Amino acid sequence: MRSAEYLKTTEERLARLSVLQELTVAALDLFDPDSRADPFLERVAERLGCLAAAWVAIEADRRVTLVGAAGISEASRALPIALPLDAASCGPTSLAPPYPELARSDLVRWSFDLQEAGASRERGRHALLLWFAPERKPPAVYLPAVERLVGVLVTVLMHRRLAQDLRKSYEELARTQLALVERERLAAIGELAATVAHEVRNPLAVIFNCLGSLQKTYAAAGDARALLDILAEEAGRLNQIVSELLDYARPGELLLLDESLEEIVSAAIVAVTGAHASPVEIELDVPRPLRRQVLDARLVRRAVINLVTNAVQAVPHGGRVVVRVLDETVPDGSAVRIEVTDNGPGIPDDILARIFEPFFTTKASGTGLGLAVVKHVAEAHHGDLTVSTRTGGGTTFVMRLPSASPLR
Ligand SMILES: Nc1ncnc2c1ncn2[C@@H]1O[C@H](COP(=O)(O)OP(=O)(O)OP(=O)(O)O)[C@@H](O)[C@H]1O
Ligand SMILES: [Mg+2]
Repeated sequence: MRSAEYLKTTEERLARLSVLQELTVAALDLFDPDSRADPFLERVAERLGCLAAAWVAIEADRRVTLVGAAGISEASRALPIALPLDAASCGPTSLAPPYPELARSDLVRWSFDLQEAGASRERGRHALLLWFAPERKPPAVYLPAVERLVGVLVTVLMHRRLAQDLRKSYEELARTQLALVERERLAAIGELAATVAHEVRNPLAVIFNCLGSLQKTYAAAGDARALLDILAEEAGRLNQIVSELLDYARPGELLLLDESLEEIVSAAIVAVTGAHASPVEIELDVPRPLRRQVLDARLVRRAVINLVTNAVQAVPHGGRVVVRVLDETVPDGSAVRIEVTDNGPGIPDDILARIFEPFFTTKASGTGLGLAVVKHVAEAHHGDLTVSTRTGGGTTFVMRLPSASPLR
């Protein structure tokens, strides 16, 4: 008789141990940083015979979030969980997440406050809630072990969060380092380019002088005149490259004056249409009267010329370019937006990342300085330049210049 009892007790113990072992194994999965708590809670619900299980975290700022759940519908999971008004005095065990499927008053709810079991006050507290049908008594024999297990898991979760924070900081650091290296590289290129541009300027001035004299001497048409015209055109192009290089390298020296942006943009459009005489339609859209702006007119004009030139070059004959200028209110003041939109082929993904790099070009006769200059001009005015593009769906460049920033 005694040995029969002993056998029964041992079998019961073994059964209990195997349940606990199963739950412990399920809990081990949570050490994996990408795992979710749901499978563990599903195992708990299944083994303890409860209708549903919910693990909630109460953050230090009193926000309540669902860490994981079992037996709770997707729609219910999305419901906000509010702390009861007297939460400070009664503790997280008085939490009743608002799950309609568990609103029956005859359900037995079992809650654990897991603050003691691992979570520190600064990191917030956790609670485990289990719902049982009234006819099913909570299996008291398992509850302390489950409580301890979840207590340990709270600590695991805390460490996971710390590790994630650390990983994020590390990634941020790596990104900043890359950006710094890139900045230094561009600064070195800029410095070299500026030196070369500066040195080229003097011989260029001499060439222009000589050209002027020669053109006077060979005023009549003929071969010499045609060759001189070619020389003048190419020297003009060189001059343009030199100016762009200097604008790229030295946009810091701003000549800030109170200007009409509409006039600057109109003049830039005329400069482009004059230069290209293309059959592309360029529309200037100023939906509302603009405030006057404090800015460097020469640099902003150059930036708009570059954007409109790119747009004109991107669209086929009969294409359309729209330049929109409008004031906008931003969180820390006001800004002016210059949008240049074309209905060209868009910019493919593989080159999009490189278009702002100096000397990056896909054009046979491009220098690749256009967008680098525009970006520098925007940044020199404390603004920014962004692009949105879709393959086959056109491109929009947006240059934002904060209104008051240059005078700050
Ligand atoms: N509106 C646009 N549509 C399609 N591609 C564009 C557009 N604007 C710029 N790009 C792409 O970005 C590259 C870089 O432009 P960026 O203006 O800096 O130089 P570029 O036009 O090639 O030469 P540069 O302006 O110095 O004569 C271009 O070569 C082109 O591939
Ligand atoms: Mg260009």
